[in-house]
Amino acid sequence: MEAAHEIKSGTPVEILFVDDEKNVLQALKRLCMDEDYEIILANSAEEALEVLRNHPNLGLIVSDQRMPGMTGSEFLARAKDIMPDTVRILLTGYADINAVADAINKGGAYRYITKPWKDEELLQIIGDAVKRYSLVQENKRLQEIIRKQNEELKRWNSQLEFFVQEQTIEIQNKNKALEKLNEDLIKNFKNSIHAFSSLIELRDRRTGNHSKNVAEISTKTALAMKLSSEEVETITVAALLHDIGKIGIPDVVLLMEFDQMSAEERNEYMQHPVRGQAAVDSVEDFRDAGILIRHHHECYNGMGFPDKLPGGRIPVGARIIAVADFIDKTVRNLDKDNAVEITLGKVRDDLGKMFDPQIYPFIEVPVREVLAGITRKSKANMIETELNVSNIQVGMLLARDVKSGTGLILLSKGTVLNPKNIQALKRYYQLDPSKTGIFVLVKR
Ligand SMILES: [Fe+2]
Ligand SMILES: [Fe+2]
Repeated sequence: MEAAHEIKSGTPVEILFVDDEKNVLQALKRLCMDEDYEIILANSAEEALEVLRNHPNLGLIVSDQRMPGMTGSEFLARAKDIMPDTVRILLTGYADINAVADAINKGGAYRYITKPWKDEELLQIIGDAVKRYSLVQENKRLQEIIRKQNEELKRWNSQLEFFVQEQTIEIQNKNKALEKLNEDLIKNFKNSIHAFSSLIELRDRRTGNHSKNVAEISTKTALAMKLSSEEVETITVAALLHDIGKIGIPDVVLLMEFDQMSAEERNEYMQHPVRGQAAVDSVEDFRDAGILIRHHHECYNGMGFPDKLPGGRIPVGARIIAVADFIDKTVRNLDKDNAVEITLGKVRDDLGKMFDPQIYPFIEVPVREVLAGITRKSKANMIETELNVSNIQVGMLLARDVKSGTGLILLSKGTVLNPKNIQALKRYYQLDPSKTGIFVLVKR
């Protein structure tokens, strides 16, 4: 703060001499001739009071004590009331001890000087008094600057605080809006993937919940293998969409088993992983999933398609999806009591050939959890019952597709109820209630 370093160079200090004897006044004026003072003379206390009114910046008063009318000490007391900052000195004879006491006590006099004075001593005293006045003034001026700057700082601070608060609120609001937008985007994104996945299954009704089952098994396996959340997410998306490339395959080929296909048909069928990747490649968020889609028919021994990648060169997500894909398809085709166990046995036989041996320990539990509902044994011991939506429970197996009032398929037959889909069903049943209850398989 520059102003604080400025010392007021200003005008000469004003000094008022008061004495009823003109020769004394002249002597005093002469004494100060060589100094840089502005000298004002007054012949009486009354005249001096008049001077005070016209000189608000008076630095020093030197007043004689003995004057007709008002005495010096009385005058100094009056002057103190009018201008408390002005330094006051009393000129007095030896006998005036009471006057001196009054001048000091009531008039706040800085010094007293006895007549006759010694010039040098008086000059010294005047010089000291002027210095004192200047110092006090300078101090006041600096204090005032500091006070003003403090006030300014306080004002800035409160403004800054207010500004920061406003900004914080604005940023918080924007963040909330962004979070909401992001949530909506993610929700839309997930809905789109599920919609795509349902489209694939529309093509081939035999497969039922194939994509969903593969996705559920693959996701659970990836989580058990402690893959990163990004990898798990990519694996879920890829598993849901792994057969999206089958959309371009003619119906006749799609309905055949692989070993029933002609060479040409096999060739057509074997295009589906690459076509699947190409189908999702235009969506940037799907690119990583696209790579897994491309490789979901690679074999651990390098004999798969389309790129004949061996072992560790196949992305781990694609290795997981390959096992889950095989298991869900085989269990469905076997349609036997112990289909899951038979299929897991087949997988074990093929470890190191078709499948990655390191993945197997992590996939067993998810397979049993997800596919428990589709074996014949469980179906055989069950009967179909219609339940109100408020009575459905976790673990129940849907005997029929659940449709909304307007005919939208909400959950497909064969789905095992879990807390998440039960919650979604209840919500839907409020918005668009079905005309029927929910058909589930319960034990006989
Ligand atoms: Fe496939
Ligand atoms: Fe598949």
